[in-house]
Amino acid sequence: MKVDENSQPQAQSPSPRNLKEEIIRLKKEKGAVILAHYYQKGEIQDLADYIGDSLALAQIAQKLDAKIIVMCGVHFMGETAKILCADKKVLVPDLEAGCSLADSCPADDFAKFIKAHPGHTVISYVNTSAQVKALTDVLVTSSNAEKIVETFPKEEKIIFGPDRNLGTYINSKTGRNMVLWDGACHVHEKFSIEKIIELKKEHPGAKVLVHPECKQPLHILADKVGSTAALLSFAQKSDAQEFIVATESGILHEMQKKCPEKNFIPAPPDEAGCACNECSYMKLNTLEKLYRCLLDEAPEVHVDADIAEKAKRPIERMLSLS
Ligand code: 13P
Ligand code: SF4
Repeated sequence: MKVDENSQPQAQSPSPRNLKEEIIRLKKEKGAVILAHYYQKGEIQDLADYIGDSLALAQIAQKLDAKIIVMCGVHFMGETAKILCADKKVLVPDLEAGCSLADSCPADDFAKFIKAHPGHTVISYVNTSAQVKALTDVLVTSSNAEKIVETFPKEEKIIFGPDRNLGTYINSKTGRNMVLWDGACHVHEKFSIEKIIELKKEHPGAKVLVHPECKQPLHILADKVGSTAALLSFAQKSDAQEFIVATESGILHEMQKKCPEKNFIPAPPDEAGCACNECSYMKLNTLEKLYRCLLDEAPEVHVDADIAEKAKRPIERMLSLS
């Protein structure tokens, strides 16, 4: 009997009930490794082989011996992994997962900015497109920015982009006067200092944990300023029982897992009732999309070979200095 292939029922997605088991099965079958940033949905973090901040994810990607890397994070994280592992298939469950901070620094404009500041070393945050990385001398993340800036002589003329808040923080910590690109993250700039001060009155013993992408008044108020991994580590080591956390709220999942007896309070954004302390880009990745991405081995991250070659140097320089 001749069967019309088009009449065959399409393979159905597994029901949400067995989505997790299907992801684990496909991952093993395809020799894939799942990396997840701390801002991913908790259910994705729980399924990942590795979770970490942006520095840790780049370091892990560089050393991985896997055919497929699934980067559960945003596009620039997938690009960084692809640049480091050109021979591997790098997938991001939703390629629309962008970054407002990376978008605040278009490569053409950044090139003009560099041209307007001759003789300056260019240091860029990892939250940038591959094109911006290709214009950069050395990359940093929030974990290693201070250390890497300090490897340059005090009199070195430096451009720092794109995050004005991280740049301001590093200037204040190192006593430098780096020229800052005027970019920012729409999530980290939304936290309300007034509401955090109110929360402190209600929870006087709470320590305030602040990501350096937040505005400067929060840096001054903070008990600890650091990357997601640094804030997590501080919470684990601290004797305090309560913490007000001013960064994307996804980190609370791992904080609560690592310290079940402690209380983590998400810092409120300035608009009442909005979910502005959630990164809408990070949250585009879902279990369903992760499953589809493993099944179809798509969407895949591609980086132009010429750009990748130029962008690889500042990434590797950062990794060797970290
Ligand atoms: P870290 O993971 O380096 O703390 O950076 C946070 C971030 O903005 C990722 O989008
Ligand atoms: Fe970008 Fe901000 Fe989202 Fe991080 S939290 S991915 S910096 S938009």
